[in-house]
Formats: sequence, C-alpha cells, structure tokens
Amino acid sequence: MVRITGSGMGCPDWPKCFGSYVPPTSVDQLPSDYKSEYSAYRDKKNKKFAKYLRYIGMNETADRILNDQSILAESDFNATKTWIEYGNRLVGVVIGILIAVLFLRSLKFRKTIPVLFWVSVANVVILIFQGWFGSIVVSTNLTHWTITVHMLLAIVIAGLLIYQVHKSGEAQQVQVPGSSKWVLVLCMIVLLIQVFFGTEVRGSVDVFINSLPRENWIKQLGMDFIIHRSFSWLVLLTNGIFFFQIRKTIALKTLSGAMFLLILCALATGVIMAYFNIPAVFQPLHLLFATACFGLQLMLFLKMDSSNPKSI
Ligand code: HEM
Repeated sequence: MVRITGSGMGCPDWPKCFGSYVPPTSVDQLPSDYKSEYSAYRDKKNKKFAKYLRYIGMNETADRILNDQSILAESDFNATKTWIEYGNRLVGVVIGILIAVLFLRSLKFRKTIPVLFWVSVANVVILIFQGWFGSIVVSTNLTHWTITVHMLLAIVIAGLLIYQVHKSGEAQQVQVPGSSKWVLVLCMIVLLIQVFFGTEVRGSVDVFINSLPRENWIKQLGMDFIIHRSFSWLVLLTNGIFFFQIRKTIALKTLSGAMFLLILCALATGVIMAYFNIPAVFQPLHLLFATACFGLQLMLFLKMDSSNPKSI
C-alpha cells in the first residue's frame, strides 16, 4: 500500500512522524521551514549511516549516499500519504509487541526446547535491526538497495516464525523420497533468486515512477526485466517437478497444491503487469504471492522427512 500510493516518505523522521506520535493532518500544523528541517535531520542520519558503512568496507556505497543530492529532496506534505505510512508503522509496532510476547513465552522452554528460545532471541534481534533499518530506508529517501534489504529481512522474520510454529506444534513429519526434499531446496533457491531479480525490476520502475506516465513504464524497462521474465520459466519448471513428484503424498497434497497455485498466481500477476502497464493493484499482489509461496515452501520443507526413504 505504501509503495503503490507513493507514501514511503510520508513521515520524514523515525520512529515519530513529523516529530509527533500523532502525525499532523494539515500542513498548517507544521513549521514553515519543515522541509529544510527534515532534510537536515536526514542528512545527519545519513552521515552517521555512511560511517557505519565505511566500518564494514562499503566505502563506495557510503560515498554514493553522501554525494547524491536527490536523497535530501523533501516532498510536499500530504496528509493521506503521511497516515498511510504511519499505518504501516503501527502494524510494525503490533508485530514487534507480538514477537516480544513470543520471546517472553519462549523463556520457559529454555531448557526443554532450547531452539525455540534461541530462535525467539534471534527474531527479537533481527526485529530491532529491521526497525532501525526502516529508518535508514526513509533517511536515504527510499534508496533501492535499502528497500530490498528491508524486504529480505521481513522474509527472514516470517521464516523464523514459521519455524517456531513448526517446532512448537504437534505436527508429524511426513516420509518422502530423499530426492523430493532436494528438489524442494532447489525450488526455494530458485524462488529466492527470482525474488531478488524482481526487486531489481522494482528498483528500475522506481527510477521513472514519478517522471513518466504509467503507460511508458514497461517500455522503459531493460535487461533486468527480461532476466526476471525469462527466469520465471525455471521457477515454473522446478516447482512443477516438485508438485508432480509429491502429488501422491496425501498428507502434503493441500500444502503443495497451495504452493504451486501461488507460483501460478505470481506468474499470472507478473504477466498482467507486463501486458497492462503495471496496474497498481497487481504490484502488492505480485509481491504477496511470491513471498507467501516461499513461506509455504518452508512449511513443506519442515514437514518433509527424507531420512527413511525405504519406509515409503
Ligand atoms: C513465479 C514467478 C515470479 C516471482 C516469484 C516474482 C517475484 C517478484 C518480486 C518479489 C518482485 C519485487 C516486488 C517489490 O519489491 O515490490 C517482482 C517485481 C516485478 N515482477 Fe515479478 N515475479 C515473477 C514473475 C514475473 C513475470 C512472469 C513477470 C512479467 C512477465 C513479472 C514482472 C514483474 C514486474 C513488472 C515487477 C516490478 C513491479 C513493481 O515495480 O512493483 N514477474 N517480481
């Protein structure tokens, strides 16, 4: 929603929004020099971030952030965009609280099921990092690679939660031939590569999202779009092989069917975007299908036991 409404910069600061926990509803509530104030605020934050990047040897990226003056451009206040972005943050807070509760509940399993506890610890740490990194996405004015890292971290958080659900449930593992599990691993790797290629296409779309009419977006896309589109065949092939292999395993039929259906939905929404000038509503759907599909693949992976293939 934030992406398709262009609300990413709806709140220029973080964690507050325009210095307040209840964001403004009209420009009159802001000081007249709010643009320069928040531009200076982000500049300070970026300088600090560039310092961290230099510590880990990312000098070129640090230079790019500091030298790109467009990063400091401040948009006009728009109450709708501000509240959409703020809504996104509030949902993030709910997720944060739930993950904190999960951590507290995991304390009692520290001795009996240590993995549940440690995964909770990892999720709290990643979540804190994710929250901070969200502020970097904003301070760098939605720089492409920061959005990608932010999204990949969200997938890691969801993945760890799926693992915890699996570990804390009674679910029995299902015996499958050893090769199916490997095919599934291949499907997951191929899907993740495709998600990465997709984020590259998103980055290219973002370059002209504000300067060109929607009808021209697809025409302007280059090699990264062609790679993403063509790689879909490999995604379809690997997942198709897995679905075919697993079709007789009754206990996994629903999950693998849902997973393959999501692949088809991701493909279909991609094709619709390509042929109908990227309709806004299909942008978040495309991303949702792709990431939910990875979630189902992970659930299948955890449910599959290939240690005793002879018993099948
Ligand atoms: C199963 C196959 C596919 C997967 C898993 C997938 C996944 C993704 C992902 C994760 C993104 C990034 C979205 C974002 O960061 O907001 C993306 C973007 C995109 N994909 Fe795909 N994709 C697939 C197939 C296709 C196909 C077949 C096409 C076109 C023929 C396509 C066209 C696009 C376009 C145009 C974007 C940019 C959308 C935007 O800017 O919001 N995709 N894809």
